[in-house]
Amino acid sequence: MHPILPSTTQHDSLPEYTKAQLALRNGQDRDEIWVCYEGLIYDVGRSRLWTRGNHYGHWAGQDLTDELHRDAPHTAHVFDKFQVIGRLKMPPNLVTANQTGR
Ligand code: HEM
Repeated sequence: MHPILPSTTQHDSLPEYTKAQLALRNGQDRDEIWVCYEGLIYDVGRSRLWTRGNHYGHWAGQDLTDELHRDAPHTAHVFDKFQVIGRLKMPPNLVTANQTGR
């Protein structure tokens, strides 16, 4: 079980961003530093551990779900103090009945 649930009804009203839009928030191209975990996008811009978008060799601006599970010495609870600012827009073939609300 993941400590943080993926997009459920409580996050349905959040704006959706495409992978391309997320990629611009890598701490290099724009001021914003965003990280996606389990479909939810977190603003980690105020973290000194994500300065310029890099965190122990991992770059912001993308979905880092697999990297956290594979490499991180910590759980996803590190996201608890950061605000969810959006959801990653899934390619149409990956949109499930749950996400479309049906
Ligand atoms: C080699 C892999 C990684 C290392 C060595 C690492 C190390 C750390 C350390 C030492 C901390 C601070 C203390 C703690 O809470 O444990 C931290 C915090 C954090 N990590 Fe990682 N991490 C890694 C991968 C990742 C990945 C892939 C993500 C994103 C999915 C991530 C997201 C975060 C976040 C959001 C924080 C909180 C930052 C803050 O509180 O300012 N980490 N990490």
